[in-house]
Amino acid sequence: MGESPFRDDLFAGARVLVTGGGTGMGLAFAQTFAAHGAQVAIASRNAEHLAAGAATVTDATGTEVLTHVVDVRDAESVAALAATLESEWGALDVLVNNAAGNFFAPVAEMSENAWRAVVDIVLDGTFRVSRAFHPLLRKGRDASVVNIVANYAWGAASYVAHSGAAKAGVLNLTRSLALEWASHGIRVNALCPGVVPTEGARANLFPAPEMEQMITDTIPKGRLATADEMALQVLWLAASDYVTGECLVADGGQWLAGNPFYTLGKLVAD
Ligand code: COA
Repeated sequence: MGESPFRDDLFAGARVLVTGGGTGMGLAFAQTFAAHGAQVAIASRNAEHLAAGAATVTDATGTEVLTHVVDVRDAESVAALAATLESEWGALDVLVNNAAGNFFAPVAEMSENAWRAVVDIVLDGTFRVSRAFHPLLRKGRDASVVNIVANYAWGAASYVAHSGAAKAGVLNLTRSLALEWASHGIRVNALCPGVVPTEGARANLFPAPEMEQMITDTIPKGRLATADEMALQVLWLAASDYVTGECLVADGGQWLAGNPFYTLGKLVAD
């Protein structure tokens, strides 16, 4: 992790759950919370990713990580995760809804299942996990939810329309929950990260090296984002106790300059 502007005990005693936390950005979120004193749990579909991710966090921070296999598309599986954290911690202070799925596919050729798979993970999954953890968040200290969106959630998301529609829904849900849960002591915010070259993003969204350069060319900052710097934005939202219903855009100015997924998607999918 790079240098943090935050005190290393900023989240001492906080209990944090990151979905999709076994790999990529989610793992960086978990590690950064742990590095600032939090107890962390990571949950995803893949037990091997979770075990490797937990070991990475423990090696880096000395913090033991709770792991739990979950499929955010399955309400029973989500309920089992909530029951485990209730018996382990009794409350939750920070929920990061990071689990996602995405692939290029033009709408005219997209099957019902392809649409459903992404919307079910991203939008319905965020609803399901947030609702299931509402009772634990109510018992949390300065509790908050951070939902991960994308800068194609406003404007258009050609060739990733399932993801765009789902992320737009998550953004609206963020604001609705911010109002519904303000009086319950739970803040709800969204982070719109920049493009981070995780293994998953490379495999699914920009498989060829020249594509990475094409994306970089659309970012006014002149470089891709790092998972660690995105993690600091999540911590900032979780720590900002008068901020709710906000979407923090940390994309190096990319959305103001244009959307690269149109050009890339055309290359990959047309
Ligand atoms: N292009 C077109 N359709 C695709 C696809 C692709 N690359 N990947 C999945 N689909 C379709 C499948 O064909 C299937 O539809 P069908 O039954 O009509 O054939 C439907 O989506 C569900 O696919 P399936 O593989 O059964 O779903 P899954 O639950 O195993 O996986 C995802 C769905 C989205 C999770 C998976 O594609 C995935 O892992 N994506 C990458 C993960 C990711 O996005 N990581 C982060 C990078 S940003």
